[in-house]
Amino acid sequence: MSVCTYHVGDVFEVMASMPDNSVDLVLTSPPFLRLRSYLPEGHPDKGKEIGSEPNPAVFIDTLLALSAEWDRVLTPHGSLCVELGDTYSGSGGAGGDYNDDGFREGQPKFEGSARKGSGWPDEKSACLIPELFRVALAYGINPLTGVESPAGRWRVRNTVRWVKPNPTPGALGDKFRTGTSEMVVACKSKDRWFDLDAVRVINNEDRMDETGFNNRPKGLNPNAGFDDSPGSTSGVQNPNGAPPLDWWKITAKGYKGAHYAVFPPELCKIPIESMCPREVCTGCGEPRRRIVETAPGQGGVHPGNNGGGTTGYGKGHRSVRTVLNQHWSVCGCETPVYRPGIVLDPFGGSGTTGAVATGMNRDAILIDLDDRNIDLARERIGMFMVQA
Ligand SMILES: C[S@@+](CC[C@H](N)C(=O)[O-])C[C@H]1O[C@@H](n2cnc3c(N)ncnc32)[C@H](O)[C@@H]1O
Repeated sequence: MSVCTYHVGDVFEVMASMPDNSVDLVLTSPPFLRLRSYLPEGHPDKGKEIGSEPNPAVFIDTLLALSAEWDRVLTPHGSLCVELGDTYSGSGGAGGDYNDDGFREGQPKFEGSARKGSGWPDEKSACLIPELFRVALAYGINPLTGVESPAGRWRVRNTVRWVKPNPTPGALGDKFRTGTSEMVVACKSKDRWFDLDAVRVINNEDRMDETGFNNRPKGLNPNAGFDDSPGSTSGVQNPNGAPPLDWWKITAKGYKGAHYAVFPPELCKIPIESMCPREVCTGCGEPRRRIVETAPGQGGVHPGNNGGGTTGYGKGHRSVRTVLNQHWSVCGCETPVYRPGIVLDPFGGSGTTGAVATGMNRDAILIDLDDRNIDLARERIGMFMVQA
């Protein structure tokens, strides 16, 4: 049975107690810069709230200090997925939105964020936090200060755009309404665990519904799974479907638990299925990888798409394949004992990541500063949840 362990506490303090190489995927949505204040005024941990940094450069420093810790606790085959939204200079966020007016009892509203000191772009400009964070990961520096990142360099593998058909109302007037946010996908290793076959999208209405790709007319759906690449058998469907695109249309759903800024479960599913191994050997730490044998002339035997780098499909991932056999790799240990893959959400909130992970037979570790989230998370995760 999968287990989700919920820690109430500051992310840095809790993570300091976690061993090296102990989680397979970090999947999270941290507080965005100066958009919300979660804890009530006067709360003893108010000063520890992330997102209240005085300017973008300091916020990037915080994200990089966190990334250094994420690097330490991630296994060598691990991945990092961070969903981040941006902040407009000079604007203030709701400050938390538990009541109709967007506030929890006693919750303060952030004042206009920018122009209170140095280090902000001109008023009304986007701060470009997601972009700055991606540059910082890829180049190993805080681009606003030039200072080396404590997290070193990461391989930025994707920027997934979460397209929201129903975004929250935002400042209008002289700009378009923001309806997207971004999830950066990064790793340290060239051979991270990645199982593309687990998340291929089949051109079937049910599957489309589940992943949110259901609103385009048939024939125009770029995820239709038809191969039109040069040199392949045009128009023939890949039996396993097509790789998901790097934009996911997911309707943000209201959550009755009166929570705020929750992850939609769909946003967690694809990362967990493709980046958190199902089984990892407790002896040598190797995850089991999908091995796919295809018919002669179609790539032969290869380590699925989870070996990273050369997938064995090569161009073949877009071409027709006859799968002869699929199985999971076995490590060199004499009698391997496997554990489930482990997902860490260091800003666990109401427990979306934990609920999805345990539903997919993975273990989860959640951390959150706000103990009021425990009851919300328990409601969603049920008997799979234990409080640390
Ligand atoms: C965007 S919300 C996460 C929501 C979550 N993904 C969900 O689906 O419910 C950010 C969370 O970060 C928490 N937080 C802020 N500062 C923190 C800190 N220093 N340590 C741990 N959690 C913190 C807040 O309490 C809030 O629940």
